[in-house]
Amino acid sequence: MNAVFNLSALSSSLKESLEEIGGAKTSQDLEAVHSKYFGSQGIFSSASKSIGSLDKEKRKEAGEFFGRCKKEFDAAFLKKKEEVEAEEEREKLLSERVDMTLPFTRFPMGSLHPVTLVQREMERFFMSLGWSLGDGPEVEHAWYNFDALNFPPDHPARQMQDTFYMAPEESNLVLRTQTSSTQVREMISSPLPLYTASIGRVFRSDTLDAFHSPVFHQCEGLAVDEGLSVADLKGVLEALVSSLFKKKGDVRLRPSYFPFTEPSFEMDMLLEGSGKWVELGGAGMVHPNVLKSAGVDCEKYTGFAFGIGIERVAMLKYGIADMHDLVEGDARFSHQFAMGD
Ligand code: PHE
Repeated sequence: MNAVFNLSALSSSLKESLEEIGGAKTSQDLEAVHSKYFGSQGIFSSASKSIGSLDKEKRKEAGEFFGRCKKEFDAAFLKKKEEVEAEEEREKLLSERVDMTLPFTRFPMGSLHPVTLVQREMERFFMSLGWSLGDGPEVEHAWYNFDALNFPPDHPARQMQDTFYMAPEESNLVLRTQTSSTQVREMISSPLPLYTASIGRVFRSDTLDAFHSPVFHQCEGLAVDEGLSVADLKGVLEALVSSLFKKKGDVRLRPSYFPFTEPSFEMDMLLEGSGKWVELGGAGMVHPNVLKSAGVDCEKYTGFAFGIGIERVAMLKYGIADMHDLVEGDARFSHQFAMGD
């Protein structure tokens, strides 16, 4: 046996290595022991490599000896490896433990504002009738807001609604006071017959109180076709009210005045079982001058239009007593009405 394959040196290395395995605390410690003895520089690796160069007789003895050493080492190594890994796994699980009884962080669900809920419900209603949904600018030319709607320049009706005028005065721009401003836009841009609804913000220089707000929402309905009458108007309004309030609703028309409708009406609704008429908005048959402004043949076509306050509907539908609640933007208020849409 030459110096490289030294049985007694290997025996004491084996003893040492088994002690080191015994003392290993982590898988890294174990790996270090392994590479110290069986890595490329390890005593057992070089011993193993030298076996081939031994005399035939010695080779057998050395081979068997090496085999026993390796077996003993491997057995101790694997046993320790299992123990160390089990311990490491246990520590990992402990450190990752989640206390399921701790309170969690709540992320509140958002909810839609009641005005948005009513707006969407109305839009769905009109879409179900096959009407289109229109839109118009909030900063509107006075022509669409007044002139085309048959308000003559000096007509006192212009002061009927207190208007926010945009500077400079010559711009003739106003914050629209009513969604009726979309009537002429719709008639000009759409082919006839026309059935359309548009919901949006309108502005009047009112002070905020329990029932008024300088900014509110209206729904304008407009139908232009051959042979339309007040009966058609009433039918649509009753269907709308019944759908919004999920109860059969009657609509009553009282004579009124708007420059852009003739005849004009205030409309009231009565919900089944409520016994009380409540005001809903204005309506009427589109004035021939308005049809003419939009280039519609008023001999052939008639139209009806109506305007409904969305805040008013929301207050009635959800029993909201004060306009302040609708405009102040406190999210806790909206949360009462819906979790979403
Ligand atoms: N624009 C009217 C208002 O704001 C309501 C209305 C709309 C009346 C359509 C008749 C027809 O009071």
